[in-house]
Amino acid sequence: MDKFFHVSDIGDLGAALEEAKQVKATPFAWKHLGQDKTIMLVFFNSSLRTRLSSQKAALNLGMNPIVLNIGQDSWKLETEMGVVMDGDKSEHLREAIPVMTSYCDLIGIRSFAGLQDRDFDYNETVLRQFVEYGGKPVISLESATVHPCQAFADLITIEEYRKKKRPKVVLTWAPHPRALPQAVPNSFAEWMNAADVDFVITHPRGYELDPAFAGDAPVEYDQMKALEGADFVYAKNWSCPGVTDPSRYGQILSKDMGWTVDARHMAVTNNAYFMHCLPVRRNMIVSDEVIDAPTSLVIPEAANRAVSAQVVMKRMLESL
Ligand code: CP
Repeated sequence: MDKFFHVSDIGDLGAALEEAKQVKATPFAWKHLGQDKTIMLVFFNSSLRTRLSSQKAALNLGMNPIVLNIGQDSWKLETEMGVVMDGDKSEHLREAIPVMTSYCDLIGIRSFAGLQDRDFDYNETVLRQFVEYGGKPVISLESATVHPCQAFADLITIEEYRKKKRPKVVLTWAPHPRALPQAVPNSFAEWMNAADVDFVITHPRGYELDPAFAGDAPVEYDQMKALEGADFVYAKNWSCPGVTDPSRYGQILSKDMGWTVDARHMAVTNNAYFMHCLPVRRNMIVSDEVIDAPTSLVIPEAANRAVSAQVVMKRMLESL
């Protein structure tokens, strides 16, 4: 495996889930794989879970993790080609990438969508430069359009908690005070479409996800109707993906607090588990009552981030 961006990169999902189970049961069994190997974890944006779970996964595999916070620990980096660098960015990715990859065997990148230029974001302009100029296996640690380590951890969690062979999984938009990228819902949709689940998406009109990720998943604009009989409720905010109106890309179209997942919403489900990738804004995305209930999976879901990361890194080490 030389890149991890999409569900297709992991291959057979049943095999990946079985491997995740083994990694979780015996996390130190592959410590020899990472001996004398280094992974560089590059963060253009803040992180708690991704930063820590990636380091933990690397350490479990015997690898040395190096974490670099761009703009804090390093020079600010220019990401656009052909610009006159007369601003506050001292170094271009074109040089910084091959320098960084000369010090490591694998590299993970966190680089959020800027939400200003849809083409720049949806072409994964930053991530693609790491592939092109780095020459080392690349993991998206949430890039402009995808967050595959999160989606894989979400699927592992659903596999662990499902009570029926084909559970109903509902991805619901929820309100947030700031404009957020679409990487988490994009990847969640992509992975749920590939999994053996009955998947439904619900959001206010205008928030339609890019079809490259949403596929043929049904969209139900009536949130309560979508949640009926759900076994898992996955809440997330995202800004306008600009599918139906590109001029509105990255905008907040709604702050309707009626979409906040609360006890009234959970009452129509099949005693559903609640999921969210975290960090979460309490009483915006989800009520205290729902996130504090025994049916909330947000902590085991976050814990599984170390498992998904370890499976991905293990496969990359095995392919070196
Ligand atoms: N879910 C997630 O990626 O969390 P962080 O942004 O804290 O890494």
